[in-house]
Amino acid sequence: MKEEIRSKLWRICKNTPVRSPLVIVPGNEPNFLDLNEYFSSTFSQYFLELGSGWGEVALELAKKQPETGFLAMERKWNRLAQTDEKARELDLKNLIFSGINFQWFIDDIFEPEQFHTVLLNFPDPWPKKKHHKNRAINPIFLKSIYRILKPGGRFLFATDHGGYFRWSIRELRKSSLFRYENREWSNERPGFPISKFETEKRKEGKNIYYLERIKV
Ligand SMILES: C[S@@+](CC[C@H](N)C(=O)[O-])C[C@H]1O[C@@H](n2cnc3c(N)ncnc32)[C@H](O)[C@@H]1O
Repeated sequence: MKEEIRSKLWRICKNTPVRSPLVIVPGNEPNFLDLNEYFSSTFSQYFLELGSGWGEVALELAKKQPETGFLAMERKWNRLAQTDEKARELDLKNLIFSGINFQWFIDDIFEPEQFHTVLLNFPDPWPKKKHHKNRAINPIFLKSIYRILKPGGRFLFATDHGGYFRWSIRELRKSSLFRYENREWSNERPGFPISKFETEKRKEGKNIYYLERIKV
């Protein structure tokens, strides 16, 4: 990425207007974030959700797993603000937020092997062929996820878009960075929280495709 573009994109991320003790305030330059500055205690493991939307999944998981530190990244400020408000109402001590665009700066802001799980639920499917280049799942992104996961860490993915599902399976088959256990994909993910977005898609009769991969 050209330096000029990089600075411009960073300015966009940096200007998140959501101000809260739970929302990471980026510095002037992209640099490794010290998550412990934002969490009030240290945790045995850390979980990252990319594109957390209105935050239902992150909030639910954080309630259920108080021993895990959760970081939810969402670029839409109103969604981030609403999730932050709910986390504070619930007095959750293990959930923090970032408005940084995960497709721009993931390699710059996270140290290697920081997370035991990375979740990407229903990323934008970019259905038109000319826009496929914008899809989050691509070799560079998979390498970034690999880098930030601990050995044996998990990458969880869900989509309701058949084309994006097949695209993701193909990209993952090409990559030697991840393996799967038992099933390559599933239409079920029992016991996992379900967002309003997912509920709507299910009501519309859409198939939901879940993938789970383990860092090799
Ligand atoms: C279809 S919604 C799904 C939200 C949530 N994961 C769920 O399951 O309900 C996709 C979300 O990802 C966010 N998003 C997409 N690309 C992003 C990026 N590069 N960085 C941060 N957030 C992103 C969008 O703003 C949107 O809120």
